Order: sequence, then structure tokens, then C-alpha cells
Amino acid sequence: MPERQSKAVFLKAYPQGMPSDADFEVRKRTVPAAGAGEMVCRTIWMSVDPYMRGRMRPDVKSYIPPFSLDEPLSGGAVAEVVESNIPDFSVGDVIVDFVGGWKEYYVSKGEQTQKVVPNLAPLPAWLGVLGMPGLTAWAGVTQIMKPKEGETLFVSGAAGAVGSVVCQLGKLRGARVVASAGSPEKIRWLKEEAGVDVALNYKDYKNAGELTKALGETAPKGVDCYFENVGGMHLEAALNCIAAGGRIALCGMISMYNNNEPEPGPPNLINLIGRGVMARGFIVSEYADKAMEFAAEVAPLVASGKIKFQQTEYDGLDKAPEAFLGLFRGDNAGKAVVRVGPDSV
Ligand SMILES: NC(=O)c1ccc[n+]([C@@H]2O[C@H](COP(=O)([O-])OP(=O)(O)OC[C@H]3O[C@@H](n4cnc5c(N)ncnc54)[C@H](OP(=O)(O)O)[C@@H]3O)[C@@H](O)[C@H]2O)c1
Repeated sequence: MPERQSKAVFLKAYPQGMPSDADFEVRKRTVPAAGAGEMVCRTIWMSVDPYMRGRMRPDVKSYIPPFSLDEPLSGGAVAEVVESNIPDFSVGDVIVDFVGGWKEYYVSKGEQTQKVVPNLAPLPAWLGVLGMPGLTAWAGVTQIMKPKEGETLFVSGAAGAVGSVVCQLGKLRGARVVASAGSPEKIRWLKEEAGVDVALNYKDYKNAGELTKALGETAPKGVDCYFENVGGMHLEAALNCIAAGGRIALCGMISMYNNNEPEPGPPNLINLIGRGVMARGFIVSEYADKAMEFAAEVAPLVASGKIKFQQTEYDGLDKAPEAFLGLFRGDNAGKAVVRVGPDSV
């Protein structure tokens, strides 16, 4: 089999503060033929995810190593196997993995690689509602917060890939869901499509005090469960309103990812003590062994339309940096994905 010329996106330098287009560069590289125990894959869709910003900080210790400046970026992808020396994978298989993003072709050893179930959902859904973000949402709801019928569940970043699934799983469990997102169109989708009880546009509130007032008015008996995607004033407002015995799933704090200096506060962490709150940080890989349980619940709900999802699509590998930057500007509704190549060639 021949070597292949493939475009891939590299980081030129580690970004300071909010990244910009100038931090990224598309370069050509040669992808070798598959060796023993390897396969070559062609990326069809790639995912951009907020955690990738953390991998652009070489100075910060994290659960996942920083990106190298000498290698292409990597991340979740739906791809087609075009050459295979791995018995479990054949040419033509469509797979989802965590390495094929940000490039057209790549060599894979087939680790953490799953075959896509044909015709269950559009291919990009395997990077969103049926993929890593969906499992994250499901784990936070079913393994950590466990909302009960009639309880109030507050979700920040609610119109995003993770938050939108949290809202709908909460509703399916009979919780009263209060969602927060940052545009009128996202608020409309949350109310009309995801079926949340209340949707707050956090941009209407200047500070944590104003958001606390709005949240307190909509949840007069307190917030029983809080799914944390954003941090900052959302966390402060949630802690002001948290009910006795509350459960918090600490999933992410995207409002802080581009900060150069640590943010002060929040000053109300002490509320966790007197109110007997269980707050639990988690990384989705902790629940990798629950992936079948997740799929058994969520895949039929997606297939029957009971769980709805949105995706914002960008066309072409060159658009990948723009898609990534959009995560921090609120440009994307639902899951952001980039089409890298056609479904079949
Ligand atoms: N723990 C884990 O294993 C795990 C796994 C996956 C994701 N996560 C975390 O979960 C969170 C959501 O991830 P996702 O993939 O679903 O992303 P996403 O919600 O699809 O995209 C990011 C959204 O965050 C909102 N946002 C960005 N900057 C903000 C700010 N300064 N203040 C308030 N909102 C802001 C924007 O929506 P608006 O228009 O509403 O502002 C944006 O659309 C992130 O914090 C991510 O790091 C954690």
C-alpha cells in the first residue's frame, strides 16, 4: 500500500489566554502504510471539545498529557478504515476513536476504537449524544447526582453537547430542570425542544448576585442537584441556592479555561458544609466500563427522538481552529463537529 499525503492541524505555539487562528497551522505530512497490528483510517468527522484547551498548557499537570508542538493535534473522530492489519477491523468499517481528529489520514493500533452501529443516528452523533459527551452527561446524572422525581436540577452550559443531554435525562427522571445558556436561540431550543422547565440567559445577569436572585426565584426550595459545566458566577449562584443534601457533579469550568491568572473565589464554598452537600468531581473515563449501560439507555431514546440533539457543523479541516475557538465564544449550539472528508470515497 502507498504512503499517503495528508493535511493535519498543528499548534504553532501554546496559546496565552484566549487562543486565536494564529496559534494553529495546517501542514502536509506523509502517513505511512499500515504496519503489523496497525490500520490506516480516513477521518470523516472530527470533534472539537473544551478539554483540548487544557492540553494546550504544557505547564499544568493534568489527567491527560499536553499536546506536542511537533505532532498534529488529536481528538475524537469518526473515520473509515482504508487499510487494516488488525483482525477485528476491515477495510470499509466506520469507527469512532479518540485520536483521529485534526487530520485527514492516520495510523491507528485500534485502541479505544469502537465500530459505529449503522443507521442508528447521523455519524456526528457518535461524537456527541452517543459519544464521549453523552456518556459524561449520563454518568453525572445516573452515577453522581441521581435526581429524584420533583427535585430541582440546575444545569449550566445547558445547550451544549453535555448539558443538553443532562437536561433531558433529568426531565426523563421527573426532575424540574432549570437550565442556563448564553443566547436567545439556545434558550428557545432548551424550552421548546429539550423541554426544560425554566431557561435563564446568563448574559442577562451582570454578576453572581443577580444570577443568584433569578435562580432563587425559580427554585424557592433550593437546588437539589447542580451539574457544573461553567464555573465562576454559575458555581457561586448554585452554591448560594444549593439545598440541604444537595449533590453537585463537577464536570467542567469552561469560563476559566482561557484565564492566565487563577480566579479569586468563590467565597461561598462553606455552604457545602452546613448543607451536607455531596460534590463530586469526575472525568468521563472513570465510567468507561459503564459505556454499554449508557448506550442501552440513551441509544433507543435518541433513535426514537425522545432525546433531541443539535450539532453545529463546520466544513473542511481548515475550519477546525474556528470550530474550536467557537466553543469559548458560544458560537456553537449543541455538539460542534468538523467535516474532514466525505462519508465514502
Ligand atoms: N469531566 C469530564 O470528563 C468532561 C467531559 C466532557 C466535557 N467536560 C466539560 O463539560 C463542559 C461542557 O462541555 P461540552 O463539550 O458540552 O461543550 P459545549 O457546551 O458544547 O461548548 C461550550 C459552551 O460553553 C459555553 N461557554 C463558553 N464560555 C463560557 C463562559 N465564559 N461562561 C459561560 N458559558 C460559556 C458556551 O455556551 P453559551 O452560549 O451558553 O455561553 C459554549 O457553547 C466543559 O466545561 C467541558 O470541559 C468534562
